[in-house]
Amino acid sequence: MPSSDNQALSLALNAHYAPGDVSRRILAAVRAAGLDPQEISRDAAALFDEFHGGGRESTRALARAVGLASGERVLDVGCGVGGPARTLCAEFGCAVTGVDLTHEFILAAKLLSQRVGMAERVTFLHGSALALPVADASFDWVWSQNMLMNIPDKQRFAQEIRRVLKPGGRCAIETVVAGQGDILYPCFWAAEPALSFVATPAALRAAFSAAGLEEQSWTDTTALVLAHGQRRLAGMLPVPAGEAASAALGIGVLVPDRVLDKTRNAVRNNEEGRTLAVQSVWRSP
Ligand SMILES: C[S@@+](CC[C@H](N)C(=O)[O-])C[C@H]1O[C@@H](n2cnc3c(N)ncnc32)[C@H](O)[C@@H]1O
Repeated sequence: MPSSDNQALSLALNAHYAPGDVSRRILAAVRAAGLDPQEISRDAAALFDEFHGGGRESTRALARAVGLASGERVLDVGCGVGGPARTLCAEFGCAVTGVDLTHEFILAAKLLSQRVGMAERVTFLHGSALALPVADASFDWVWSQNMLMNIPDKQRFAQEIRRVLKPGGRCAIETVVAGQGDILYPCFWAAEPALSFVATPAALRAAFSAAGLEEQSWTDTTALVLAHGQRRLAGMLPVPAGEAASAALGIGVLVPDRVLDKTRNAVRNNEEGRTLAVQSVWRSP
């Protein structure tokens, strides 16, 4: 892809993921929920800072499944506002660096890490998955949740993964892949098809294999993601008069535009088999 196309895609993704000041919106939502924005608990932040289908549960499930070990160096590519990075650091003892293309998300990731008391323990860098701002052979793990759907050239990303992994290092990905039938938009990762590059399982596997990565596991997690989406949707629908309004803290903190449509489509896409959720592990030789 020519660099002018890369630049156009980068601008479009920044506009998609961060309309407005993300950090300010987060702090306002925390205040509206009656919490102290100076000291935010990781549990409260997890209501919006794990920006993928299964939420914090799927981050934990993947980390347990691959046996992440304390002290291992993890690069979280497409780290968003840093929820998964903080989970891997706080609960699994990993040394995590997050990289994301959306500048506002990196600012929010740093702010949130400070407000949950982890500023010294996680590192966040602004940059692209296709030109990672880190040294060769410097990580035990590349970690990436729900970012691949924004990457047109999966093989190039897989080559970057190989470059930054130590020999024998591994890569754990969670992603949406194509099922049968057209995907319904808007989605969380793209409001329209132009920003969406959802691969079939066969195409994704071929791209990673062509870069020399060896497949270690491929697990369909659609049921877990669907259940999470259904709970999320139920929490967003209007509640009967007299009951408490749905919580101020939810994925809408990060997604101010058409969040109900995106949540409905996420559920329908999975329910109707238009998309599938996958967790997969790859090893660098
Ligand atoms: C759905 S969010 C997931 C965020 C995070 N992984 C999580 O699970 O909480 C997708 C993220 O991928 C990032 N992204 C998309 N394309 C990227 C690229 N080429 N390089 C780095 N990050 C990218 C977006 O900015 C966004 O933060």
